[in-house]
Amino acid sequence: MPKPNIVKTFPAMLDLEPGDYTWCACGSCGNQPYADGSGCKGNFEAVRFSIAHAKRYKLCLCKHTKSAPYCDSAHCRL
Ligand code: FES
Repeated sequence: MPKPNIVKTFPAMLDLEPGDYTWCACGSCGNQPYADGSGCKGNFEAVRFSIAHAKRYKLCLCKHTKSAPYCDSAHCRL
């Protein structure tokens, strides 16, 4: 099973506005934590998500979360 590229072993803390976003699942896109439009590498698929409320979110950068795109603390077990 292919493994994603670990961008960082901590989440990105981002103040997001309501809207639609696409999270990179492979860890190789050039605009982390987002997908850059070139498509994720390997068998990974970018994850589309919508934000309804403006606030600070923790987006996964280790790419091992089971709650994509949000950090679930999986980075603590890497
Ligand atoms: S940064 Fe990936 S689970 Fe926290």
